[in-house]
Amino acid sequence: MSKPNIRSLSKLDFLKMIPARKQIIEEAPAQTPPPLDSYKANELAKQLHPDFQFLKVSQVIERGEEVKSFVLVPDQEKGCKKLAYFSAGQYLVIPLKIGNAKLVRPYSLSSSPKESLQGKYEITVKRVEGGLASQYILDHWQVGTQVRTIAPEGLFTYEPLRDAKHIVGLAGGCGITPFVSLAKAIAEGDEDACLTLIYGCRTNKDILFKAELEELAQKCEKIKLIYVLSDEPSEGCENGFITADIIRKHAPKSEEYSIFICGPQAMYDFADQEIAKLGLRKKFIRHEVFGEYRNPARDAEYPEVPKDSFKLKVFIRGESTTIDCNANDTLLNSMEKNGIAAPAHCRSGICGWCHSKLLSGEVYVPKTVDGRRLADFDYGYIHPCCSFPLSDVEIEVYPR
Ligand code: FES
Repeated sequence: MSKPNIRSLSKLDFLKMIPARKQIIEEAPAQTPPPLDSYKANELAKQLHPDFQFLKVSQVIERGEEVKSFVLVPDQEKGCKKLAYFSAGQYLVIPLKIGNAKLVRPYSLSSSPKESLQGKYEITVKRVEGGLASQYILDHWQVGTQVRTIAPEGLFTYEPLRDAKHIVGLAGGCGITPFVSLAKAIAEGDEDACLTLIYGCRTNKDILFKAELEELAQKCEKIKLIYVLSDEPSEGCENGFITADIIRKHAPKSEEYSIFICGPQAMYDFADQEIAKLGLRKKFIRHEVFGEYRNPARDAEYPEVPKDSFKLKVFIRGESTTIDCNANDTLLNSMEKNGIAAPAHCRSGICGWCHSKLLSGEVYVPKTVDGRRLADFDYGYIHPCCSFPLSDVEIEVYPR
C-alpha cells in the first residue's frame, strides 16, 4: 500500500484512511511493546529534560566585591550522573528555603554548553541590597552544599532563524554572565555567530570575568570586547554609559546585527532610549530581564495607589491563605515571603510558569515585562512575578 501524503489530505481523506489503519492494527503481531525507557529517544529526552538535577557545589570563586561564582557538579550520592545540556544564555532555577520563606531564583549560566557535557555548571551571584536569596547564597553556600534544580531554561539564546549572525551584546555588571557562556560557545564552535560585547561597569575593578573574556577575545576573532566605564577614565576603555554613539562606533558597519542586552534595570531604562535611536528592527533587539521589576512607582503609567499595603488572598489546591502584600512588592514576592510555595522560574514575566487566575481586585503590570498572551487578558490570567497590587486582590495559583 503506497503511503498517502498526509500534508495534502482533507478531513474526508483522513476518514477514508480509518479502515486501512484498523486493518494494520489487526494484522500486527500481538506483542507487548518494550518498556518506554528502553527507547533511545526517551533516554535522550530524559537526559535533556530531567525532572530534577541533584548537584553540589565543587568550587567557590571570588569574582569581586560581594560577587562569587559557584561551580556545580552532579551529586553522585543522590544518583545524578550527568548534567542536562543547555543553550548559551539560559539560566538555572534555584529553589531556596530561608526561614519561613520559600523562594525560587533564576541564575544565568556562565559556563559553556560543552562544559555541561563534562559535568560542570557555573552560576554567579552578586549581593543585592535587601536581596534575601543573594545574601543567603553568598553567606551559606560552600564546597559540598547540595542544590536541587531542574534543567536549564530561558529564551535569551542565539536563534539563527531570527537573530542576525552578528550579535552586539550590551552587558551591565553581573549581567555579563550569559555573554560569558555565549562567548565560550562561539569560541568552542558550538554557536556560529560573532559577538561584539560592550560591557558597562563603574570602574576597572568592577569588571567581572576580565581574564576569561580577554583570553576568549584573544583566541577567537569572532569575539570583540569593549569596556565602558562610568566612574573612571581608563586607557583603552570608553567612558560614560553605553550610548547609541558607542554602539554605532563598535557595531558592524556592513552587516545587520542583533542587540542582546542583559543588566540591571537602571541600565535598561537608559539603554532602551539609546537603542531606539539606532532604528533597528524590533526582532533584532533581545532583552534578558535580569532580576525582578522593582519600584513600579517610577513608571509614567503607574496609577495613584490609595494605600501602601493590601490584602492578598491566595487559593491553592482548594485552600486559601490571606497575607499582607506591599504595594511595591510583586504578588509573587509577597507569597514567597509568607512561606507560600508559589510556582516561578524566570521571575520576569516571560516563562509563564507562575501563570495564575486573578479572581478579584486590580493589579499593575509594567508593559516591558508583560509577557501575557491575548487569551490571558480575555480570561483574567496574570503573572504574579510582575504584578503589583492596586487593591485587595484574590488569586488562584496552580502548583506544578
Ligand atoms: S515566573 Fe516566569 S512568568 Fe512568572
